[in-house]
Amino acid sequence: MSINCTDRDSLEDFIKVNLKESRYRHSLGVEDMAVKLAGLHGADAEKAAFAGRYHDLAKNFDTETMDSYIRKYGLSEDLIGNNALAHSKVGAAILENEFGVTDREILDSVRYHTTARRNMTLLDEVIFVADVVEDNRTYSDLDYYQDLAYRDLDRACLEILDYTIGDLTAKGKVIDRDTLEARDWVFNKIKETKNGK
Ligand SMILES: [Fe+2]
Ligand SMILES: [Fe+2]
Repeated sequence: MSINCTDRDSLEDFIKVNLKESRYRHSLGVEDMAVKLAGLHGADAEKAAFAGRYHDLAKNFDTETMDSYIRKYGLSEDLIGNNALAHSKVGAAILENEFGVTDREILDSVRYHTTARRNMTLLDEVIFVADVVEDNRTYSDLDYYQDLAYRDLDRACLEILDYTIGDLTAKGKVIDRDTLEARDWVFNKIKETKNGK
C-alpha cells in the first residue's frame, strides 16, 4: 500500500460504524466500478479503489455531527444543513486530518465527488462517474450510463452533469457553482478533442 494513511484498520472500522448497510454496499460498489473505470481510462487503480471505498464516509452523519465537523475544520458555513454538499467536503477533511491521507488527488476526488468542478483530474472523473454508475444503483438507464462510462468518460461526465443540472432546476433548487463550471469545462473539453486540438 503506497497510499499514506495512518491507520487503515480504524478507517475501515469508521465506515463500518458510520455507514448504513446500503451505503456501505454502495461504497464497495463504487470502489469496484472506480477500479474498472481506472483500468479502462488509464487512472491509478489503487487511488481509485481507495477514494471509491471511502468517498461517502461522512454521508450518514446526523446533522449535529456534520455541523460539528464543519466547524472543527473551518469549512464554509454554507454547508451547514446541506448534507448532500457537506458530506463530500467533510469526508475529505476527515481523511486528511484524522487518517493522515496526504494524496491531493484522492482528497480532491472525494471533495468534489458530488459537485464535480472545472479542470477535473482523471481520478475526479473516475470517482464522480463511478458514484453514479456502480452496480448497486437501481435507476432504469443504468446500463446506458455504464456502457457510456466504459467507452467515453468525458461524455459520461457531461451527461451526468446535464442530468443533475436539469433535475435540480426542475426541482427549483440552487445549482452549485462548481457543478455549472464543471459542465462547461467538460463540454468544451469534448468539443476541443473533437476538433483535434
Ligand atoms: Fe456522496
Ligand atoms: Fe456515493
